[in-house]
Amino acid sequence: MALHWVREDDYEAMSRAGATRIAAAIEKRLRQRCPMLLGLATGNTMLTLYERLAGMLNERRLDLAQLHTFNLDEYVGADGRWIPADHPLSYHAYMEKNFFGRLDPRLGMKRDHVHFPDPACPAALDEMIRGMGGLDLQLLGIGFNGHIAFNEPMSEAEIGVEAFAALPTRVIDLTELTIDTNARLTAGGDRSQVPRQAVTLGMQPILGAREILLLACFAEQQEPLRRMKRGRPTPELPASYLLDHPQSTIIYTGDRICLEGLA
Ligand code: GLP
Repeated sequence: MALHWVREDDYEAMSRAGATRIAAAIEKRLRQRCPMLLGLATGNTMLTLYERLAGMLNERRLDLAQLHTFNLDEYVGADGRWIPADHPLSYHAYMEKNFFGRLDPRLGMKRDHVHFPDPACPAALDEMIRGMGGLDLQLLGIGFNGHIAFNEPMSEAEIGVEAFAALPTRVIDLTELTIDTNARLTAGGDRSQVPRQAVTLGMQPILGAREILLLACFAEQQEPLRRMKRGRPTPELPASYLLDHPQSTIIYTGDRICLEGLA
């Protein structure tokens, strides 16, 4: 089976396990003097992981000049651009606060190696990733509706299984469920703070990553994960495409998510 399921006891153990794998992958590539293309996610799931990962990289004193990061997504404002960094939901600000700002500047991570999809020219990021040989490792969370990044579920009547997997980086309208969920979890329940659009990395560059690591730690994520365990890749559950990926792992917390008893 290509997809590995790893149960950790709790949030701290999940975060540490995720950070350990990412640090090892970065170290391996950089020690071979190869560039490391790392896809990054935001969200509550990743908060402690970033703290641990920055700590591990600082401790190992790796030279990060060849590390390139590609964030999955960012909200888009009514003007068609990224929401500003001082917006409370800015993913740029999240990354700075939780990861980039914690890295020792002496490791030499280059600011112009930090990438986000741009709503003005979303295709440019896909071309860049392709031109550099594809992502080495993609970190993912999972939405309560099974979305990955902001690739929202679609019905198979709307789009074929293969066409969904080929979706490029693009600007999308957020679903009502995602607006509600993100208002509740990240905006103190204030729906008016959540933008209506976002720019998201497509399924194609995500699934093109050589390795995928998905983390899940909320009780609400049990249902999409259980559906996934029983099912097959379908646009109705975007995360289910990991089932067919050659090297993917899901690390979940056993104290909130129970997947036992499923084939
Ligand atoms: C957002 C992001 C997703 C993320 C999801 C879950 O919708 N676009 O990439 O996986 O939130 O986030 P959390 O980690 O807060 O559950």
